[in-house]
This record gives sequence, structure tokens and C-alpha cells, in this order.
Amino acid sequence: MKPINVGLLGIGTVGGGTFTVLKRNAEEITRRAGRPICITAVADKNLELARKVTGGEARVTDDAFAVVADPEIDIVVELIGGYGVAKELVLKAIENGKHVVTANKALLAVHGNEIFAAAQSRGVMVAFEAAVAGGIPIIKALREGLTANRIEWLAGIINGTTNFILSEMRDKGLPFAEVLKEAQALGYAEADPTFDIEGVDAAHKATIMSAIAFGIPMQFDKAYVEGITRLDSVDITYAEQLGYRIKLLGIARRREQGVELRVHPTLIPAKRLIANVEGAMNAVLVQGDAVGATLYYGKGAGAEPTASAVIADLVDVTRLHTSDPEHRVPHLAFQPGQVRDVPV
Ligand code: HSE
Repeated sequence: MKPINVGLLGIGTVGGGTFTVLKRNAEEITRRAGRPICITAVADKNLELARKVTGGEARVTDDAFAVVADPEIDIVVELIGGYGVAKELVLKAIENGKHVVTANKALLAVHGNEIFAAAQSRGVMVAFEAAVAGGIPIIKALREGLTANRIEWLAGIINGTTNFILSEMRDKGLPFAEVLKEAQALGYAEADPTFDIEGVDAAHKATIMSAIAFGIPMQFDKAYVEGITRLDSVDITYAEQLGYRIKLLGIARRREQGVELRVHPTLIPAKRLIANVEGAMNAVLVQGDAVGATLYYGKGAGAEPTASAVIADLVDVTRLHTSDPEHRVPHLAFQPGQVRDVPV
């Protein structure tokens, strides 16, 4: 069985997790994908780290553009993050006819319309389960499991760092700055933690979910975004005394005039399930007209939970590769040609 060759860009926390899980569960993954999935090339500025993680099992380079140009590579996994070189690499990979798997929520929320249009015209897929809520298969749930529904609204705790900070401030009475440092040390926070604490990361993820749920383009620039930096311990204490928890929610709701998209701290009655999502865990509530309310819960960050989503996309793309064209699953890719431009 000819393996599918993967080029991995960025061997940080998630890249390392992807390598580990692909190796550990190779038998199951191969069976499900229909052929072996092999990371044959890894690009990272830190060559020493890349060599250590791959243990000689993949070609290691610091030239990511060489990997996206390599004719032997079938799928490029982009785990660099940010809008800069990551955007160039993803567009180059698409231009070179490669499928792309990415965990880059910032890139998709801000430049997704351009990227998906490029992928559609080149006939390749851009898969991004890992971009939202780490290991929770929320993109698959929205796109496939709930496909019969008219989605009315969704609301989620989709940033582990801020949820961890709010939980620790409430439970241990620790100050904000101290808990933020802890979240950084645990590897939950973004490279620029202001993206977490100012609600930007949650807004990126809410933007992506709203595009799938409501069939609209990515409209990050129209989201209302407020983080947790203006909250004080006393707010948390008072909320508690009144029977509420404060959670940073990403919310997208269908309205007559369009889709409302917002991120801000929210008071939730303490007895609600979502109010009891603690630490770095994520949870997303989705209300569909047929199914009613559904709730998805799990680890929203970290090496292996996010790798779980990256590999799920690799398996999906591999199935597409191996199946005959009639049995392809085109709904996996976002299809900008079919979206309506609904104002937020
Ligand atoms: N910084 C993000 C979080 C990582 O805290 O949720 C996962 O996207």
C-alpha cells in the first residue's frame, strides 16, 4: 500500500503531538485511512528540536518552502501559526496542488475567504478541525452531524487559557497575572497571550464556527470582541454570591438582519452544565432547529488533544485521495462559492 506523504511545517507542541500519536496508533490510523500516513518531511527553524522529535524518521529542514514545493509530498500540515509566513506557505502549497491541514485559527478567520477560494479553484482541500476547540470534533459536528439542522445559535468556551485563569482566580483566589504565567508555562497560551486574554483567539474560533454553521464568509472584522482583562477578582466573587459563574463565551446567533458574532465575559447561572466547565477545558453548545440543544466538551488545547484533530483531518484527506472521484467527500472543504454574504 503506497503511503500518503505528509510535510509538517512547525514541530512545536502540536507538531510533536502529531508525530507521537501517528506513531503510537499507526495500526488503527492506517486501517481507518486505507493506507499508511507518513510524515516524510519536517520543517522548523529549530533543527535540533526537529531532529529530536522525529528521531531520524523524517527529513528535517529549515526551509519550509522546499517542503511545500516537494513533488513527493501529498498533504502539507501547517502548524506555524500567525498570518505571516504561514499564509504564504499555505497559498504556495495550494498552488502546488497539495491538500492542507491546519490548526491556524488566526489565519483562517482573517484570510480564510482567500485561502478557501484558492483551494476551490485548484481542487484541493483545506481541513481545519484542529483550529477550533482542540480535540473536540466541533467542525465535523457542525458540518456533518448537524447537517440536517438550521442552526439557531452556538455559544462556547473556546479559549482554554482564559477559562483556566477564571477558574483559578475563583477557586484559589489567585491574581490574574500569576495565573496567566501559569497558563503560559502549561503551554495553553498563544505566542502572544494578549490574543487569549483580549478575546481575539476566541473570536477567531467563533468566526470559523459561524462560517460553517450559517454558511457565511469569514467575518472576523465584524465581531464584537472583549476579553477578561477588565475583570477583577471581586467581579468573580460577586457573581458567585449571586449564583453565577463568569465565563468568556464566543457566541454566534442567527438574527433577522444577519448573524451576530461576539466574544465577551458572560454571567451564567452556576447550575448550568457549561458554567461548570473548568480549567483549560472547552465546551460548545449548539442549538439546531431539529436536534435542539447539543453540547460538546473536551480538551481545547495541548499536544495530543490537538494532534487528535490534526490526524482526523489527515485521515479524511487520505480517504479522499484513495477513493474514486464519485465517492469523494467534497463537503469536507469549505466551499466559498456556496456561501451567502450575510452581514453581521
Ligand atoms: N491559546 C489557545 C487556548 C490554544 O488557550 O485555547 C488552543 O487554541
